[in-house]
Amino acid sequence: MRADTLWTNARLLTMTPCRPVSAERGTIAARDGHIVHIGPDAVDAARTIDCGGRLITPGLIDCHTHLVHAGNRAAEFELRLKGASYEEIARAGGGIVSTMRQTREASEAELVEQALPRLDALIGEGVTTVEIKSGYGLDPGSERKMLRAARALGEQRPVRVATTFLGAHALPPEFAGRADAYIDAVCDDMLPALGGLADAVDAFCEGIGFSPAQVERVFDAARNQGLPVKLHAEQLSNLHGAALAARYGALSADHLEHLDEVGVAAMAASGTVATLLPGAYYFTRETKLPPIDALRAAGVPIALATDSNPGTSPMTSLLLVMNMAATLFRMTVEECLLGVTRNAAAALGLSGEIGTLEIGKACDLAIWNVSEPAELVYRIGFNPLHARVFGGEATVRQA
Ligand code: NIG
Ligand code: FE
Repeated sequence: MRADTLWTNARLLTMTPCRPVSAERGTIAARDGHIVHIGPDAVDAARTIDCGGRLITPGLIDCHTHLVHAGNRAAEFELRLKGASYEEIARAGGGIVSTMRQTREASEAELVEQALPRLDALIGEGVTTVEIKSGYGLDPGSERKMLRAARALGEQRPVRVATTFLGAHALPPEFAGRADAYIDAVCDDMLPALGGLADAVDAFCEGIGFSPAQVERVFDAARNQGLPVKLHAEQLSNLHGAALAARYGALSADHLEHLDEVGVAAMAASGTVATLLPGAYYFTRETKLPPIDALRAAGVPIALATDSNPGTSPMTSLLLVMNMAATLFRMTVEECLLGVTRNAAAALGLSGEIGTLEIGKACDLAIWNVSEPAELVYRIGFNPLHARVFGGEATVRQA
């Protein structure tokens, strides 16, 4: 069989379970967008690209973002610099609801236009898959508009977009004091009307979000639609959301600074990925660390993501996320790299398609100008991407 493209003279970081971060000299080949060969020898191909000894990783995966939204919250950032907390701002009618107002007013095209620079920043650092949540519309039409914008981004750029419906993100003002009625609307009006626009369902389980009982109702409705679930859990307090998510076989529970041992054990038993978001930890000046040692000891897979959003993590760099995870959370280089490849794929339910360099998976690659894997984690604010390949097609880094 003749391959379409063969990349030779590379050092391959397969991220497979046996030797995740020991780079092996070799070649990799694609046909019809998928990896058809990987190993020390070359195969026959229509086109050959010499990688000059460069390091190749799977294309990076950002498995938790709120990339689609209108406006920004720089003014709230300034308030927080003067001492206000994220929770105080949210309770005073700012926070998620202020982005909701701007997002409702924006057209689908405007949402795409505002998200594109953020998406391009991720792509420019080797991201080939990005998850994008709704959650700033908070009414049926606006939530669908956000998800359509997310899908459109995947058509306008060479990137795979996984969409997540986050209707239960915050209480919109028209439902003030009637959270259960809003959850009725999420379950009965919004979720059944998604019509394939969402690949998963998420919720914000928190004092300023929704209670575990309300989240359960959302998860039951998701189950009725055949959609997998994820959860913003234990970010500001411990409502035991991770254990709840695990009971529903959630793909991931995310944030987790306040996660306890019981939650860790529940996640380990259900195979739920722990998605850690060091950008939000940093930007909100959180001081409680997620229980990394307990997650490690229990064998819970750890993913890392930008959480790119205007309130708690206005960041668009997975490379910086890895550096923060290493520096702030003391994660190892191997853990950081697994967090943005194999474990991020698992957090999206896409382990069969992406996340490692293996025959049969999508040929999504990042080709780096670095000598050692550790350099990808160690630098701050420097982008060593040489080229990026999506579905077997090379997209050279833009200057
Ligand atoms: O992941 N925690 C809830 N949601 C986002 C923040 C969204 C916002 O503040 O706009 C998060 O941190
Ligand atoms: Fe988030």
